[in-house]
Amino acid sequence: MTTAGSERPVRLGFVGTGGRTVAELVDLVHIPAARISALCDIDEARCHWAIEQLLERQPDAPGTSLVREQAPRTFTDVRDMLAAVDLDAVYVSLPPFAHGDIDHAILDAGKAIFVEKPVAVNSTVGREIAAHVAEAGVVSSVGYQSRYSSAIQQARAALAGVPLGLVVAMRVGGLPGGSWWRVQERSGGMLIEQHTHGVDLMRLFAGEAEHVYAAANTVLLTDVPDLDIADVNAATVRFESGAVGVIANTCALESGQARPNSMATWTVSLQIVGRGVVAEIGTERSEVLFAGEEAQQYVLDQNPNRLMNEAFVHAVQTGDTSGIQSDFADGLRTFELTYAAHLAAERGAVVRVGGDH
Ligand SMILES: NC(=O)c1ccc[n+]([C@@H]2O[C@H](COP(=O)([O-])OP(=O)(O)OC[C@H]3O[C@@H](n4cnc5c(N)ncnc54)[C@H](O)[C@@H]3O)[C@@H](O)[C@H]2O)c1
Repeated sequence: MTTAGSERPVRLGFVGTGGRTVAELVDLVHIPAARISALCDIDEARCHWAIEQLLERQPDAPGTSLVREQAPRTFTDVRDMLAAVDLDAVYVSLPPFAHGDIDHAILDAGKAIFVEKPVAVNSTVGREIAAHVAEAGVVSSVGYQSRYSSAIQQARAALAGVPLGLVVAMRVGGLPGGSWWRVQERSGGMLIEQHTHGVDLMRLFAGEAEHVYAAANTVLLTDVPDLDIADVNAATVRFESGAVGVIANTCALESGQARPNSMATWTVSLQIVGRGVVAEIGTERSEVLFAGEEAQQYVLDQNPNRLMNEAFVHAVQTGDTSGIQSDFADGLRTFELTYAAHLAAERGAVVRVGGDH
């Protein structure tokens, strides 16, 4: 894939300039065609903070020199940014509850859109944005960087065509900082906000899910102020293929409890049993063992986040979207599965994925 600087530059705007935007900027300054043109946050100081973080972390990258030569403009309103700066695409890195108007303003302006996961906290907002993306006909991408990992892609190729029976996604982690994260209506909680990466990989390997049943509770973080999310979630999933899956997660680990070499801890991971095969799938390494054969190991060979950004910039520049692993419609399907699991736990009932909730 080429994103050569001699080709037309891709002018990028950013809405919501917190930690995730900094992570994207750190990769984008290494992509020759990418231009950091404008930043927007309700708290304008956050735009300057994000630029400072970039200058500090990537002082020598080519894109950082461009930022130094011509500082990106900063805004507090996305419409002002869209009116004042000629952009090709906008990255949306908002707390999940803030999706809606901002995404629609970007699409009304006909700009390509990169949305960080999860695409929404409720299905109405997510589906409305998806319909608008389709109507606008713009390039879209959702930030599921694990899909760009060689360890994931090679394991997926090894399992292609093999009937899968059981797919288990487990994530054991701590409580992220930030006041919005611990409020269900603002983040979606562990299932929708963070374990979305693992659930996305379930879909990647096992296909679409039909229905889900779940239990969730707050039992370990009862002394954390202002927290109303479940700190333990367990769901069972039935896939269209007939395979079944288990989603299990917690955000109740305390610092120092993470075991660095455990695939279940802090990483995105799956355990899969298929016909004549077992597999452990992770962003950094995967292992696939067919009966009677030697186990095959696949390891991460390039930064998947950089590859994800390269694929998006390339698609905006050329119209070739073949490198994008998750567009908005696909990202919505992952959200729908996590949301159905959330509703199933809330209702104590089986919930159809993507149904009329
Ligand atoms: N793919 C990944 O690995 C990954 C990692 C971290 C976060 N994320 C996702 O990125 C998104 C942002 O997370 P974060 O950690 O950067 O959050 P953050 O709290 O650090 O930053 C969010 C920013 O959005 C701003 N904001 C809030 N409402 C706004 C509005 N209406 N208009 C403009 N700005 C607004 C806030 O002021 C803040 O600066 C979330 O969806 C999160 O799930 C993805």
